[in-house]
Amino acid sequence: MQWNVLAASLDAAWAVVAAGVLDFGAPWHLPTIATVDRQGAARLRTVVLRDCDPARRQLRFHTDSRSSKASELAADPRIAVHANDAGRKLQIQLAGRALMASADGAGQAAWGSARLGSRACYAVEPGPGATIAEGGAYRLPADEAGILAGSAHFLAIEVTVERLEWLQLHEAGHRRAAFDWTGTAWDGRWLVP
Ligand SMILES: Cc1cc2nc3c(=O)[nH]c(=O)nc-3n(C[C@H](O)[C@H](O)[C@H](O)COP(=O)(O)O)c2cc1C
Repeated sequence: MQWNVLAASLDAAWAVVAAGVLDFGAPWHLPTIATVDRQGAARLRTVVLRDCDPARRQLRFHTDSRSSKASELAADPRIAVHANDAGRKLQIQLAGRALMASADGAGQAAWGSARLGSRACYAVEPGPGATIAEGGAYRLPADEAGILAGSAHFLAIEVTVERLEWLQLHEAGHRRAAFDWTGTAWDGRWLVP
């Protein structure tokens, strides 16, 4: 099986990640991303995987520039991404660096690719994470012009992956491997599960 061949397992792991972009039911459609906050504490949250390009080692997520994750990544671009595919008994962990692209810059195509309904959340007022008097005390845009004004808060988070680790659970013996990007190639090794 592919999980017994180190080099083949790297492509197989990337294929599982990439399939999550379009497979809404797949665990890799909704991975968890970790950032480091200003106190050095880990912060985790679910996001939608919008794009994955294994050849370029890149992933893309979308977020609001007013969110905690946006300011955390601006201060420290290190990011970790995780999902466990229970059906495949396969955990994949990625780590890398994030660059943020706004809708009036390098994130223009990403903003253009988002459905109108999805764009509405970038126009929420007050911004994500603001304290409000009661649960419903926030406003979403009432019309298309209001939705499009949310582009000012849109960010595409472009992640370049520098490390990939997978863990395959199997009755015949679990397998685990890690790959680091050396600058020109992936350097892989087996690990004790
Ligand atoms: C299923 C699901 C999908 C989500 N997708 C996104 C997303 O793509 N981008 C995003 O910024 N937040 C997304 N969220 C909300 C985040 O998990 C998080 O609650 C919010 O962005 C605030 O995070 P922060 O304060 O750590 O920045 C999603 C939440 C859930 C439950």
